[in-house]
Amino acid sequence: MGNIIAGAIPGEHNLGDYGKAVKDFVFGEVEKEFSWYTTGNCNIVHEAVDRHVMEGGGGSPALYYTDGNREETYSFAMLQEDSSRFAAVLAKYGIGKGDRVGIFLPRSPELYISFLAAARIGAVVVPLFEAFMEDAVKDRLGDSGAVAVVTSPELSQRIPYQQLGELKHVFIAHGEPLRPQDISWRGEMSAAPSCAKIEWVDREHPLFILYASGADGKARGLVHVHNTMVGLLITARWVHDLKKGDIYWCTADPGWITGIAYGFLAPWLLGIPVVVRGGRFNDEDWCATLARYRVSVWYSAPTAFRLLIAGGDDMLRRYDLGKLRHILSVGEPLTPEVMEWSMGKLGVPIYDTFWMSETGMNMICNYRCLPIKQGSIGKPFPGIVAGVVDDRGGELPPGKIGNLAIKAGWPSMFRGVWGDPELYRRYFRFEPWFVTGDAAYMDRDGYFYFQGRVDGVINTSGERVGPWEVEKKLEEHPAVDRAGVAGKPDKLRGEIVKAYIQLNPGIIWSESLAGELRELVKFGLAAHAAPREFEVKEQIPLTADGDVDRKALKGWVLGLE
Ligand code: PRX
Repeated sequence: MGNIIAGAIPGEHNLGDYGKAVKDFVFGEVEKEFSWYTTGNCNIVHEAVDRHVMEGGGGSPALYYTDGNREETYSFAMLQEDSSRFAAVLAKYGIGKGDRVGIFLPRSPELYISFLAAARIGAVVVPLFEAFMEDAVKDRLGDSGAVAVVTSPELSQRIPYQQLGELKHVFIAHGEPLRPQDISWRGEMSAAPSCAKIEWVDREHPLFILYASGADGKARGLVHVHNTMVGLLITARWVHDLKKGDIYWCTADPGWITGIAYGFLAPWLLGIPVVVRGGRFNDEDWCATLARYRVSVWYSAPTAFRLLIAGGDDMLRRYDLGKLRHILSVGEPLTPEVMEWSMGKLGVPIYDTFWMSETGMNMICNYRCLPIKQGSIGKPFPGIVAGVVDDRGGELPPGKIGNLAIKAGWPSMFRGVWGDPELYRRYFRFEPWFVTGDAAYMDRDGYFYFQGRVDGVINTSGERVGPWEVEKKLEEHPAVDRAGVAGKPDKLRGEIVKAYIQLNPGIIWSESLAGELRELVKFGLAAHAAPREFEVKEQIPLTADGDVDRKALKGWVLGLE
């Protein structure tokens, strides 16, 4: 494992005396709350689950699951028991510390139990979003060298086993295996011991590898470690303001960073129960979920809020949402209409939180003690030093738009790019700054204003799409000579995926060809990556290196050509 955890994690230097003092104070103090601080024994599963049981909170609810068919409540003790059983199953098949275990399941209790089980034995989770299709699944399981995957009969059909030489064990939950060599979750769990064994690990031991799209190349495996708990606990307390008695619902899927970090880890570190709603978005079901579970703190994304607004006031009036204390938003710019809707129709404020898969925790936020400035993503979390730098890493004064950057060294930061130390270093090319890939400016009061991506990564409904991956998929079609893909601003979704197509000689564009191309991406990569708009171009502009010229494409989608 040593080779991937970059020895060269950019240090904590250069924060300045004040920055370092605040950082040490905030994160240093919170470290004292973890049991490893005194015992020296570390594992995030102990802190998020077992510790509550040991301290007498085993009977408290941890997970309320609903999907219209199943409705289940798990206490911390039940999570401890089930994750211990599945940990024993994994161990029985020889899976242990450092082994990568893919989790490719729809949002369901088994997904969370599998995550805890793998982390319990020191294995490294590779979360796979349930909408991923064959190529996306192959790339992630292949690149991480996963030896096992936990999946369902339906999703297992998207795993190209022949192309995954290192994959030895396939565990099937939500039904029985389709292939004789696969292992039945149900069968194994009923026979497994439930004693809560745990593997103690170093704080820097990898916990999960999350694949996130960049502008060029395939999705990169961002390595997060057990120490992420330090940043998660304190942001759950200060940004999300979680307190005893709260019921928390983060709507993000655990295939993405928000659904992992705040979907369950952060609230469970504080012993707060979470709601998980399986199935697709539906405005009526979402309101019903808020009301039924008396959700008090809700974390979601502007696209979802906009869809709820579109559902109309009548729908809102049918549900008692009186328990809501506040809402938090992530993933896309929070627009004034959404903020006004929240205050006007729900009577609660909505706090923006800016962060990324790479940062692992909330970075720049509008937390409760801070006056909200409309249009701003807020101020850096205490202990986080953010700035705006030019294209050579020089810090820019307030009011100037440049690259949003954060001084490296916070506890939940990704620790490497799996198998690609060079790519990791590139994020820190302006050391000590971590370069987000976003543009922003800061005002004189230290509030930041998000100005969009600078690198061509697309953000559609809060989901991150890599243009290169979509282009390569489109170019597999015999009609396509070259494709160029960019995010086009969209009122509802923030951005939509737009594809410019350079056709091969003699090919005539048609709606049915557009349909074929859409399907190719939808069934090869994922539905959310499929272009919603196409435009035929004589030539896709290239840079001197022969890559798609992303700046030129941005000009096209913005109508600046
Ligand atoms: O462009 C920014 C946007 O989402 C990107 C990170 O995407 P991902 O790694 O998938 O993580 C999403 C959720 C943590 C950022 O580089 N983004 C994130 N939060 C905001 C945002 N854009 C505007 N406002 C935000 N609050």
